[in-house]
Amino acid sequence: PAPTASDPWRPVAHLTAEKNWLNDPNGLVYHDGTYHAFYQYNPRGNSWGNMSWGHSTSKDLIHWEQQPVAMEASPEEEIFSGCIVMDKNNASGLGSAKNPPMVALYTSAYGKNGALPQGAQAQSVAFSLDNGTTWQKYQGNPVLNLAPTNNNFRDPKVTWYEPGRYWVMTTVVADAQVVKMFKSTDLLRWEYLSDFSGVGAQGGLWEVPELIQMNVEDSTAKKWVMLLSINPGGIAGGSGMQYFVGEFDGTRFTAEDAAAPDAPLDESQWLDHGADYYAANSISGAPGDKPVLLGWMGNWDYAQDVPTTPWRGSMAIPRELTLVRGEKRFELRSAIAGAAREAMEHSGEVKSKNLTVGSSPKDLGQDFKGRTQLIELEMDLTSAREAGVLLRQSSGSDSGLRISYNKEARTVRVDRSKAGTSNFSEKFSPFHQVALPSPSSKVHLTILLDSSSVEVFAAGGRAVVSDTFFPDWDNTGASVFSMEGDTDFTVTSRTL
Ligand code: FRU
Repeated sequence: PAPTASDPWRPVAHLTAEKNWLNDPNGLVYHDGTYHAFYQYNPRGNSWGNMSWGHSTSKDLIHWEQQPVAMEASPEEEIFSGCIVMDKNNASGLGSAKNPPMVALYTSAYGKNGALPQGAQAQSVAFSLDNGTTWQKYQGNPVLNLAPTNNNFRDPKVTWYEPGRYWVMTTVVADAQVVKMFKSTDLLRWEYLSDFSGVGAQGGLWEVPELIQMNVEDSTAKKWVMLLSINPGGIAGGSGMQYFVGEFDGTRFTAEDAAAPDAPLDESQWLDHGADYYAANSISGAPGDKPVLLGWMGNWDYAQDVPTTPWRGSMAIPRELTLVRGEKRFELRSAIAGAAREAMEHSGEVKSKNLTVGSSPKDLGQDFKGRTQLIELEMDLTSAREAGVLLRQSSGSDSGLRISYNKEARTVRVDRSKAGTSNFSEKFSPFHQVALPSPSSKVHLTILLDSSSVEVFAAGGRAVVSDTFFPDWDNTGASVFSMEGDTDFTVTSRTL
């Protein structure tokens, strides 16, 4: 559906369900030219509950088509987060050589009369023989349980480990801040490998881990990257994503540059510095040599209270990751995934404008009005201390979404405090910011503005801020401002 005055916050370039609640992306897989996104979904309501796997498909990572619910909650079992792998050689025996199965590993969260006591969580298998449309649960579930049982053992993500010719599964014991790894050659029998714990931010649940091997940019070296969601304790408050770079020897993952256990929170490396990027994981089998991530644009601090209806929850723009050797540590850079960018470039009109701004803000005019835009913003703060753009502006006022760069502090800030409805939760934090790696009077921001979200990429993707916000339908203005001096702007915008 398109956004309208009665559904004003419906995104145009991001995955949502037509109605009802969604959170984490699950079982992301590219198969036969189609991207599949499954996700935590409540088929019966607009808040968290009855956790099931919803399903949507896309050819271009922008336009999504909702499919029937893939796996539905029952009183005995809710279907929590997990992943899907293509079992090409039918190692599981759940399909046939001719029709190899798609295999899902998911967390069973047990209710009354389930296979394990109520409240227990364990890992289970389901499979599809019709390209992900219908799913059958494996008879021998759960396939992996911590003895005797554990109530926070969840979020399996499986990757193929070529040197050992086995699959490796990362999971968490969320409330113990431990990643547990297992291996298997048939996706059904899992053998314990090792724990990863004691580094990075610890002040919340560890959730949705993933281990990815990546090429180091401009080198022949490869490294392993552990993505890990934490809630609360994220950099912007509430839910956030940290990552670790290191080595995996087939048994154990060691973070090389990891912060010491007692280091302050800002020693962790964060994938995103906004409040709304969580539980991202990579699309298995996606084309290209870079991991493509899909994340949930939400924060457990207030996600259940956001004022959208009849749907609640949206995914972030798919992002491709690059690993670079920084001055002190390896760093991840995020960019809008190539396929998604290409799809957006087929739509809308492009407008461009150069201007110099002094002490009074300048309206960008009719051409840059809009609710959904992909904006490239170049600023040269020749003599200014701070400069930026106000989007979804209420005409003639200073209300709007304020995105700014402060030259002295080197920070990019997204301020949503005057950008619309925010009284639905006291935890809806007003602004988020990130420091850029090196000082400069020039910055380039890529800004993806959708009906109720913004994603800002700076410093070549090393600094990202993703935030949801809930602007008034009628506020569509845009202006630029410069403080304590002049700024030269080049603004290019594509209407989505
Ligand atoms: C993360 C999470 C997962 C869990 C799922 C339940 O947001 O809490 O750990 O599997 O959501 O919906």
